[in-house]
Formats: sequence, C-alpha cells, structure tokens
Amino acid sequence: MPGPGMELIGEEEIAEVLEVLKSGYLFRYGISLGAEVDPRFKGKVYEVERVWAQHSGVRYAVAVNSGTSALLTALSGLGVGPGDEVIVPGYTFVASMSSIIFSRAVPVLAEIDRTFNLDPADVEAKITPRTKAIMVVHMTGVPARLNELRAIADQHGLLLIEDCAQAAGATYRGRPIGAIGHAGAFSFNVYKTITSGDGGMVITDDEETYRRAFAFHDQGHSPLRTGVEIGQRPFIGLDLRFTEVQAAILLAQIRKLPRLLSHLRTNQKLYHDLIADLPGLEFRESPDPNGDIGTMLTVLLPTAEIARRLAADLGTKVLSEAGWHVYNNMEHILEQRTVTPVQCPFVCSPYTSRGGSMRYRKGMLPNTDALLARALNISIGVSDPGLSSGFGVTMRDGESVVRERAATFRQAACKYLR
Ligand SMILES: Cc1ncc(COP(=O)(O)O)c(C=O)c1O
Repeated sequence: MPGPGMELIGEEEIAEVLEVLKSGYLFRYGISLGAEVDPRFKGKVYEVERVWAQHSGVRYAVAVNSGTSALLTALSGLGVGPGDEVIVPGYTFVASMSSIIFSRAVPVLAEIDRTFNLDPADVEAKITPRTKAIMVVHMTGVPARLNELRAIADQHGLLLIEDCAQAAGATYRGRPIGAIGHAGAFSFNVYKTITSGDGGMVITDDEETYRRAFAFHDQGHSPLRTGVEIGQRPFIGLDLRFTEVQAAILLAQIRKLPRLLSHLRTNQKLYHDLIADLPGLEFRESPDPNGDIGTMLTVLLPTAEIARRLAADLGTKVLSEAGWHVYNNMEHILEQRTVTPVQCPFVCSPYTSRGGSMRYRKGMLPNTDALLARALNISIGVSDPGLSSGFGVTMRDGESVVRERAATFRQAACKYLR
C-alpha cells in the first residue's frame, strides 16, 4: 500500500461519502449563486478548509485538487511570477520545480544538508537580486530548519513557501508545519500521510494571500464566491477546485491522523533503536525529532559503495538512484523541456535581459549527490518507488514485524559494518 492513510480507509470514510452522495450535492458551492442554500447540502469542502486551518493554527485554507495545484496556488497567491527566482532543494518531487515554472518564474536549485532538507548556508549563497522566494520542502515528513530559513527570508525580504506535501501532521518546535512560512501547501494523494485519492490544501495567515489564492483556484472569484463579482476579480484564475466527495474522505482521514502518527512514531523509534548500535551507521538529522511524522527512517552508510551493495542485498536502492525525487534524474527539468520549443520562462525576457537564462546540469549539487549516494530509506509507513522500493514495514505492521525487519537489516548490514 502506498501511504499510511490509504491503509486505514474504512467505515468512517464510507459513511462520510454516503452522506455526500445522499445529499445529491457534489460541487463545493452546493447550488448556484444567489439561491438559498438547500439544507441537504453538506458543505464538506468548507468544513475541511476550516478544520485544516484550525489544525494548522492559521486563519485561512483553500482546498484544491492536488498538491501540485496547492503549490501553484500558493505561488500565485503570494504574487510570484515572471522575472522571479525561487530557491528550491535538488532533493524533492518535480512538482516543487514545475509549479514554479508554470508560475513563469525560474527554480534555482540548492543543496540539502544532513537533514536531507534545504541547507540554509547554500540558500544564502544562491540569493540574487531576482530572488523572490524560498521553497522549503519537508521531505518524508522531517521538518526542515525552519527557524534559520525564516530568518534568512526575513533578512532579505523574501517569501518562504513550505512544501508540506510529504509531511501532513509534522510540527516544528510545537507548531504545525506550513504555518511558519508565508504559505504552506499540502498533498493528499495516495502516497501521503492522509489521502483523498488526490487533493491538496493551501494554508496562510494572511488575508490578502488567501483572497488571491482563492481567486487563482477558482477563475478569479472572491472567497466563497460571495459579494459582487463582475468588475471585482483581481486577476485571471483557473479551476483547481476540490469536490465534496474528496472533502468527505479527507475529513474522516484527518480524524485518524493522531492515531496514525502515534503508530508511525512508535514503529520508527523501535526500528531506529534496534539498529542504532551498528558501527558506522548514521541517521538523517532532524531539526526537531518530536515533529517528525515517522513515515521513513533514513540511514547513512560510511561509503557510497557500501550503501549500494547493502541496498542490493536488501532488494532496494540508494537514494541517488531511487527514482524521481532527485534533480539528477529529472531530465525534463535539466533539459528545460517546456511544452513548446520556445522554452519560456527560461529563455524569455526578463531572464535574458539581465545576465542570461538559468542552466541546470547533472552533478551541479555535489553535497546533495554525496549524501544521497550513501543513503537508504527504510519505509515505516510510506512505500513510494520514487523514494525507496518498500523495504521496511507498513502501517498495518506491529512490533513483531518491526523486530523481524530490523533483524533482516542488521544481518545484511553486519557484512559491511564491523
Ligand atoms: C514534495 C512534493 N511536492 C509536491 C507534490 C505534489 O503533490 P501531488 O502529487 O498531489 O500533485 C508531491 C507529491 O507527489 C511531493 O512529494
């Protein structure tokens, strides 16, 4: 099974969906504008926005149809666009970059550090007069160095956008992630902590950002399509709306989040403790171990050669080879394969007018490459072929399976670690 939330789909989700189907209203607004609200309309999208905003400790949330849409909506909500550069890590899912490109801004790739998230020192080094925002990604549920990154953003007058797609439920020093930046974006696809099949959410505490994000996700409309529309729409938007059925499923999943996190964290800690004494084995650093959601356990082997051989013995892959979360494996980004041969925004004004267009190449992030070549992901609750091949345990497994798989890891690793 891809993600832990998907493993828990059951009676609660079924009851929620039936409630929506019986109401007859699948569209987020229920009925057409101006008419009285039919009492049968359940308003699940409104409700899930309220619930997620409250969970995150912010005033506003906009539910959308995917995590990619959430990033695009957050960028547009914050006014990132042509002429802007956005700093993003080289270890992430391609949507972090593609959402920037479809905003007609340009991604600037930066190194990760031993947190496997953005390295604040490299972020500072990559700032230019065109930098508008930093997009931090909390990979596999481990919070990034948010204090340092927010301080850099504030010092340079930049926006901080949190890509929380893989980290619903994570906290940083007691605060839910997504609320520390100017906006946060979540994904609820099937590989994520909790799921509605597909889906996403933008959160922000800033009213103007919310109004713009709402307008972007729904054809320029004002929040909840209230008020006078004609003559009032701030800009041209799209339709990235969430549906009542997806919202119903997500509400049931959010209610299961505390139970899910407690199970994942228990299994992750046990797995960690059972292999921690292996000589030479290191673990990914977490800036706040209490805030980690526990979907993966990332280990570092002493050399890339040992990591590759151990991965092969375990039937998995080192992170540098584990599919599409590594910039080196994103040929469409490296070669700037845009929809038409013109290659905007990369070669378009205003980028060309001020010192040439952005270029990417394999090996351009040597620290990231060196870390990913020595690292392996052990699944605790997410099995994603782009992150690991599923070596580890699942959400359904308890203590005995964790002990058994940790023993398998120990036995294989002992060949190389003495
Ligand atoms: C880090 C990251 N950002 C963005 C996304 C995009 O989410 P979605 O697949 O829901 O569009 C994903 C998920 O695949 C992700 O892992």
